[in-house]
Amino acid sequence: MQELLELISERVANAFEAAGYDRKLGRVTVSNRPDLCEYQCNGAMAGAKTYHKAPFMIADEIADCLSGDEMFASAESVKPGFLNIRVSGDFLADYANQMAADQERLGLEKERNPRSIIIDYGGPNVAKPLHVGHLRSAIIGEAVKRIARFAGNQVLGDIHLGDWGLQMGLIITELRERKPDLVYFDADYQGAYPEEAPFTISELEEIYPCASGKSKEDEGYHAAAMQATNELQQGRRGYQALLEHILRVSVSDLKKNYEKLSVSFDLWMGESDAQPYIPAMVEKMKRDGFAYLSEGALVVDVAEGSDTKEMPPCMILKSDGSALYNTTDLATLVMREERYQPDEIIYVVDKRQELHFTQCFRVARKTKIVPPETGLVFLGFGTMNGRDGKPFKTRDGGVMRLENLLADVNAKMLEKILEGGHMQKEEAGRTAEIVGLAALKYGDLSNQASKDYVFDLDRFTSAEGNTGPYILYTIVRIKSILKRYEEENSLEGLRVLPPASPSEKDLMQLAARFGDNFRTAYEELAPHKLCAYIYELSNAFNRFYHETKILSEEDEEKKASWIALLSLTKRILEKSIDLLGFAAPERM
Ligand code: ARG
Repeated sequence: MQELLELISERVANAFEAAGYDRKLGRVTVSNRPDLCEYQCNGAMAGAKTYHKAPFMIADEIADCLSGDEMFASAESVKPGFLNIRVSGDFLADYANQMAADQERLGLEKERNPRSIIIDYGGPNVAKPLHVGHLRSAIIGEAVKRIARFAGNQVLGDIHLGDWGLQMGLIITELRERKPDLVYFDADYQGAYPEEAPFTISELEEIYPCASGKSKEDEGYHAAAMQATNELQQGRRGYQALLEHILRVSVSDLKKNYEKLSVSFDLWMGESDAQPYIPAMVEKMKRDGFAYLSEGALVVDVAEGSDTKEMPPCMILKSDGSALYNTTDLATLVMREERYQPDEIIYVVDKRQELHFTQCFRVARKTKIVPPETGLVFLGFGTMNGRDGKPFKTRDGGVMRLENLLADVNAKMLEKILEGGHMQKEEAGRTAEIVGLAALKYGDLSNQASKDYVFDLDRFTSAEGNTGPYILYTIVRIKSILKRYEEENSLEGLRVLPPASPSEKDLMQLAARFGDNFRTAYEELAPHKLCAYIYELSNAFNRFYHETKILSEEDEEKKASWIALLSLTKRILEKSIDLLGFAAPERM
């Protein structure tokens, strides 16, 4: 199905064309004066100059042309030359019925030219617990992935683990101090290494901060960790075996954590997977004359004439020959190109890493690691702050672990549900988890990704206002009406009739705009626009609901039509929250 605005615009464009004007002038937008009209077109204003005519004369002609069209209830020209449009109830009802008839896609067409897209998000660091900094990447990345996939693309989510570099050397060094007799440290050992890891996840999580602390204070310890990192990178067998253990233990723990967030990845690759690609990549950069030595380090120039800020060269290898974060990301591109040849790669990473990505993208283009037509997109997000406006911390000022944050949200939610007093403890517990996740995710996603936002537990968990729980309440309310209707009637084959009241028309109108809003959220990689849409849709439903006695309506046909509209609204809301990465409970 064509999106509603496109459909209306097309009809208006036809009118412009029929009257001898450029059809591009027929673009229609949702009115910003809903008291005056539903849609507006400013084409007559825009075209006045070209056609040497007063705008209202053009607008008059177009309005005349549209007045007989059954799509419109009214099309008026108003001075100085605007077109104010209202659509007809028949048209709207017909549109809603067509959407409802499409079980899977609610009328949404699939991308005509599907692309293969890799989304790089999550980015946790192995052996370190997930913290709230990784939360945004996971939440936004998952939503972007689901949206791009629903649009019809081939999408792979890649977690891109931070599993390389000094942190591994630190862990090895600390393990070595604690358990010097392990076979992994015996350089001459030839046999196979044990299957079982010589540590648990909790040990690992304690080992890393301990080692990192020691390394900051003790130079000798730091040197040992550097040495271990280097030997690991050179392929020392025992260290490689340890790395595998560290990875396996961490990954199974990470999977559990991401599952709690309803976040899943198709690829569990990491920085370490890119290492084998580094030598050949560096050689080629040198051979092609892009990489050169500067103060001992190997660099590639990335400055461009149009830069307004200083753009330092991108360092590829340090003077001791070791690889950096840049190197890994570039080698990862080499690997992705070789394995997947994606049309686009989207990085969902803290916006403070923007310079890093600008440099990487430029090197990748310049050295032809990626072909020119491949899209490289940096979707940088802002910081989640506490109520004091500073990056979110625990009460004692430490870094908040993700599981603790989730536990806090769930506890708050549970408290509110139990206060309501109509749910047994067990169901309340399960419901709190579902609603808590919605509170957390919606609280994040409803903000434009690039902006910082304040994590406000009270607001996020409130059932009123622009919150996840409010959206879920709306869904649950509709579900309960449908259930009661279903006790005596069937939900099959119901049809939406032309709206009889303004609030009914508003609701139908918003439902019909699902496709337009989905498309904007998809094209602009802007889940917050989908949030804004479902908030508006929920408001429209609640206004209608408060004005209308649905179940006690005596006119059965009317009642059935309302039920059909409710059912469509519910399906749109459920589809949307699924795309955003959360779900609704049966009751609340
Ligand atoms: N591990 C990094 C961090 O914690 C994020 C990785 C982002 N992705 C990337 N391809 N560099 O900061």
